[in-house]
Amino acid sequence: MNVKWDSLGFHYTEPDYIVRAECHDGVWGEPYATEDKYLHLHVSATCLQYGQEAFEGLKAFRGVDGKIRIFRWQENAKRMQRSAEALYMAQPPTELFGEAIRLALRKNICFVPPYGTGATLYFRPLLIGTTPRLGVGPGRDFELIIIPSPIGPYYPGKFHCTTFIVNRHIDRAAPQGTGQFKVGGNYAASFRGTEAAHAMGYDCLFTDAKTHKYIDECSAANFIGIRGNEYLTPRSTAILPSITNESLTVLAKEMGMKVTRRHIPVEELATLDEAAACGTACVLSPIDKVIDPDKGVTYTISDEPGPIVTKLYNALQDIQFGRTADVHGWCEIVEC
Ligand code: PLP
Ligand code: COI
Repeated sequence: MNVKWDSLGFHYTEPDYIVRAECHDGVWGEPYATEDKYLHLHVSATCLQYGQEAFEGLKAFRGVDGKIRIFRWQENAKRMQRSAEALYMAQPPTELFGEAIRLALRKNICFVPPYGTGATLYFRPLLIGTTPRLGVGPGRDFELIIIPSPIGPYYPGKFHCTTFIVNRHIDRAAPQGTGQFKVGGNYAASFRGTEAAHAMGYDCLFTDAKTHKYIDECSAANFIGIRGNEYLTPRSTAILPSITNESLTVLAKEMGMKVTRRHIPVEELATLDEAAACGTACVLSPIDKVIDPDKGVTYTISDEPGPIVTKLYNALQDIQFGRTADVHGWCEIVEC
């Protein structure tokens, strides 16, 4: 194991162990650690044939006090249960999910980056359908796999802004589809938008699939806007309920801000003081401009990360890295 903590990005670094737990006919087995990163999977498994797959993303942080904190893993467990229910998969019980994450952490302790590097240990829980099936329908066998990987800070240098481009021609998810669940199919379906934006040097801003008037999501992250003392974020049945966004709304309210969740017309970007994408990977990624090619407009929001987005970013990172009291009980300290 020779990880260069300073040069990690959001890339996969092979851990020593992954953790697996199987479920057959509704009965879950114990999670176990294995060094083998390959699956012996039937070619007709429902995850391969019909996309019966869901995943999650969460992080463990080495704190200023040297302790390791896992951030709000119970929320990821609940979200995976909702995704599983939507795709007719067995729901991993919360305790089993937590046990699997803790085991993955303990078996890969040397991959938890040191405090001060800004790097973290990311966990990618994966739930797949493994029953061989040709007829269209769900299987009866499932597997939960926890894949840990150390990842670098999203901002290795200085906290900086990104530019988004509105895409009304590709929909990430339908209003009554699977957008609110974290299932692999949503991401493959979004590539036509995100890869086209990346090719132009931007990130993709998806609008609602019904009217294409309202902001839905920023690539694979939620959108937030700041206007005066108000924290605005879209209400939509097609977006993923972000655990980061929900945590930030709590912090924003504590800072005395008004939090509003409603449809946000794209044109409203002209009135915002600050905007950002939020999610586990980046925490908050400030947005400087949004290009709307259909309307021939570029909304310039702020050239530098704004004061409120910066304050919210620091407030959340302070909790995650143990620099401030965890009054909400969001972090589990794991004794290793
Ligand atoms: N939206 C999408 C589509 C995502 O994939 C993610 C990442 O998980 C988010 C939003 C942010 O969610 P969270 O803050 O729970 O990571
Ligand atoms: C996030 O964790 O913030 C994401 O955007 C998820 C993505 C890496 C799938």
